[in-house]
This record gives sequence, C-alpha cells and structure tokens, in this order.
Amino acid sequence: MAITIKSEREIELMKEAGVILAKVHQELGHALKPGMSTWEVDKLADEMIRSYNCLPSFKGYNGYPGSVCVSINEEVVHGIPTKDRIIKDGDIVSLDIGVIHKGYQSDAARTHGVGNITEEARLLIERTRQSFFEGLKVASEGHHLFEISAAIGDYAESFGYGVVRDLVGHGIGTNMHEDPQIPNFRQLLRGPKLRAGMTLAIEPMINAGTWEVEFDTYGDGWSVVSADGSLSSHYENTILITTGRPEILTLTEEEIAEGLYDRLCPIK
Ligand code: MF3
Ligand code: CO
Repeated sequence: MAITIKSEREIELMKEAGVILAKVHQELGHALKPGMSTWEVDKLADEMIRSYNCLPSFKGYNGYPGSVCVSINEEVVHGIPTKDRIIKDGDIVSLDIGVIHKGYQSDAARTHGVGNITEEARLLIERTRQSFFEGLKVASEGHHLFEISAAIGDYAESFGYGVVRDLVGHGIGTNMHEDPQIPNFRQLLRGPKLRAGMTLAIEPMINAGTWEVEFDTYGDGWSVVSADGSLSSHYENTILITTGRPEILTLTEEEIAEGLYDRLCPIK
C-alpha cells in the first residue's frame, strides 16, 4: 500500500478527530489519581470518547479488550486495563488512546507522573516528549521520512536511553495503521519523501535502560515490557505534513496557547 495524501475534506475530519482526542487526553490526565485501577481509567476514557459521538479505535482491534492502553513504569505499551491493577503514588503512567470520528482516526499517547515521581522519571518523560519535537523539526515536505527517525533516536540516545526498536509509528487515516511505518531510530535508508497531505502518528517509546523489550512477560498477548525492567515513556501525536511546519492535530487549545509547540520546536 502506498502512503495516501489526504484531501481537504479528509484533513478537516482528521483535525476534528484530533481535537476530540486532545480533550479526552486532557480530561483523563486530570482524573488520574493514586488508588485508581487501570480499569477505572479505561471506563472513564470509553465514556468520554463516546460522549463525543466517537468510537475507541483500540476496542476489539485484533481482539484487544480495552478502549485504551494503560502502561505503568517498566511497561512500554499495550497495558491491558484490569480491576486489580492499582495506580500508585510515584508511578509513571502511559495512556495511549485512539478515536474514530466520522470514519477518520486520531491516535495519541501521553505519559503522566502520578504524585511524587523521581527526578529520573521526570527527565525520562520530558526528554521523550522532546524527542518527538526533535523529529518534527524535519517533518515537512521535501524531507525524507527517516530523517524524522534519526532526529528522534539521536536525541534520545544522547542521554543514554534505549529507543524501542520493535514498535514503530505509522500513517493514519480511515485506518489506525496505514503506510508508512515510522521507526524511532536512525535507519540506513532515507525512506520515502514527505509530501503535504500525509497524516502520520509519530510515537517515540523510550526506555531509561536497554532498548530491548519483552512481549511474553505477562502472557496476555499484549503487554510489552522493558527487558531490563527500566522505566519506559511514550509520547505520540497525529500530525499533518505541510510544505512548512507540520500541524499537530492532537494538541489541546491550552497546550497550543501556552506555546508548547513553539517552545519545544522553535520555528525554522
Ligand atoms: N496506539 C497504538 C498504536 O499506535 C496502539 C494500538 S494497539 C491496540 O499502534 F490494539 F490497542 F489498538
Ligand atoms: Co500509534
């Protein structure tokens, strides 16, 4: 399958899907408290998504049981919400959420520190987010896809972190996963040329220790855990490639107003 270029109409719908998802993330982030089960987080997210007349794209995707993924500490991604998994003070909690709005999808992840987290954890979260913005600096028409991969990976590795290699970002549109695959580390090839109208989900997953992950630790067929048990952080947005700076479709108005994008990704 080739990388699709979205029409004006499709881009409008992707933007709407993005704004809704940003709001869900914001509300859910505020609701996150020690003592909550990951099942409660899932239920809350499911209700919010449906209140916007959207569907949670993860629910039933390849049999995935939850509406969102909740991954704590050394869990990298795809944590399945359960009633007996309780969020504690000092945990770092990655929330990965996708919505379908009028047939179009958005996908975004945030990692939150709950209560008092260590300085190591705080820095990991901050630098994972920054690695995304380093990638954005080269995410415009004329650049090649794997320049994004290299910018993300080189930045994260400069701190000695492990960049997860077994999972990648992706194109997105009427399907959650479309071409191309977007690794978060330096590649030998340049990859395809970026063109205005491509919509991509860019999602660095960064471990404080080794880049290696394990898929069979929990035996649930989903959870991915860092191989050395080190903390892991995830940050993802759905973006639109343009001839200039990319548009981030999954930021809240507040995040834009507070200058997050400009601050972390200064205008070229
Ligand atoms: N948002 C994730 C991704 O980008 C995870 C989806 S996995 C699911 O691939 F099964 F939960 F949907
Ligand atoms: Co994704």
